[in-house]
Amino acid sequence: MERVRNIVILTGAGVSAESGIDTFRSAGGLWEQHRVEDVATPEGFARDPELVLRFYDMRREAIQQKRPNPAHDALARLDATWDGELLLVTQNVDDLHERAGAANVLHMHGEHLNAWCTACDVRSAWTGPLINRPPCPECGESALRPDVVWFGEMPYQMERIYAALAECDLFVSIGTSGAVYPAAGFVREAKANGARTLELNLEPSQGSRWFDETRLGPASELVPVWVDEVLGE
Ligand code: OAD
Ligand code: ZN
Repeated sequence: MERVRNIVILTGAGVSAESGIDTFRSAGGLWEQHRVEDVATPEGFARDPELVLRFYDMRREAIQQKRPNPAHDALARLDATWDGELLLVTQNVDDLHERAGAANVLHMHGEHLNAWCTACDVRSAWTGPLINRPPCPECGESALRPDVVWFGEMPYQMERIYAALAECDLFVSIGTSGAVYPAAGFVREAKANGARTLELNLEPSQGSRWFDETRLGPASELVPVWVDEVLGE
């Protein structure tokens, strides 16, 4: 293996599956139980805000009962000890990477534990419900919504992500189906920039052919083994 200095890691719902958080597209996953257009679009929110707020209130409450698993722990260990640049880009809106101790986490699809005020544009840490239309801690308006990126909205910090993809020698995708863009396109971006690409997933993702290497299995087993390898242990 050539010398690796800069790493970009992309994670998805599969990394939190073994912590008991539902994925989206698996059998029995969230998008089988709920229509995406109803709960994950600005139009759905405008049509039926109560339904949407209740859905995210339940998710926000649920994740607070969950714990990081060995995949989160291993990534936090890598983040803490890696000498080069490391950016952990997650599509997940839970906080399990942080709770495992990772510092360099970028939530491109937002975070359950934030509320976003559409009146003053400030984001506030939030653990309780939003269904009761609480006032924004900054401006006092009752205009808080989940700080989650919905379909049709722009994911966060794309410039920073593409800059990291341009500089990385290794791109690793973990626990994501590769169904949602722009994240699903990161592997090709990294590859075009000369990075080696590795996929760790339970099953081949939709973009599996773009990876130099694919390892199939549960994240709690694959990720610690891979982290040991990279750290030369
Ligand atoms: P998906 O539910 O689409 O895909 C999860 C992937 O994880 C699948 O390929 C599974 O095979 C794999 N998986 C399941 N359990 C696993 C395990 N224990 N170990 C390893 N892999 C496992 O979730 P995402 O790809 O994260 O966006 O979905 C991307 C985005 O679509 C989400 O961020 C969300 C959703 O709509 C928004 O809500 C904006
Ligand atoms: Zn406000």
